[in-house]
Amino acid sequence: MNNCDKMEYEGKIKRIAITKEQIEQKVAKVGKELSAIYDGKPLLLVSILTGSFIFLADIARAITVPCEVGFMRVKSYYEGTLSCGKVTVTMDLDRDVSKYHVVIIEDIIDTGRTLAEVVKMLKARNPLSLKVVTLLDKPSRRVIDFSPDVALFTIPDFFVIGYGLDCAEQYRNLPYIAEYRCDTDK
Ligand code: IMP
Ligand code: MG
Repeated sequence: MNNCDKMEYEGKIKRIAITKEQIEQKVAKVGKELSAIYDGKPLLLVSILTGSFIFLADIARAITVPCEVGFMRVKSYYEGTLSCGKVTVTMDLDRDVSKYHVVIIEDIIDTGRTLAEVVKMLKARNPLSLKVVTLLDKPSRRVIDFSPDVALFTIPDFFVIGYGLDCAEQYRNLPYIAEYRCDTDK
């Protein structure tokens, strides 16, 4: 039994929402589009840790033009399960973004607070340009008006795990995106 079977055995995977093959197809398509846009330009992919680490690894390999990668870790504060809106940087990017066309690589946009803050912060450092590419978008949960430039998949309001996304740091290694079975679910 591998890790994923073990986790399925624990019954926390309600259903597979997006398969490995669906992710691969979309990542290849977006990688191709980004390669065309940034051909001949200094490109920096900025991954927001931790949730985007697998997406970053795949999208970077789907990009066929030169690019650099950088990492940033931000913390969103929650009161219970409700986001109270405070976002702080716990690990900053180690690159001068004014020399790059920046593409932020994010796992999921939920309330929009994290990305709105990160975009504001990076724009103030004068990148040559800035775009946001998110694996998942949950527009029905927005509390801040924020739209990514590219969303690979738009999903309704349910909690997802896998392909980098966690629940209490578990399930990030699932190769697909699954709906998480909450304790309140039957
Ligand atoms: P936002 O600031 O509310 O948009 O929060 C975005 C962050 O919340 C994401 O980067 C994730 O780390 C986390 N998040 C939101 N929804 C989910 C989910 O369904 N599964 C796992 N993490 C999530
Ligand atoms: Mg995240």
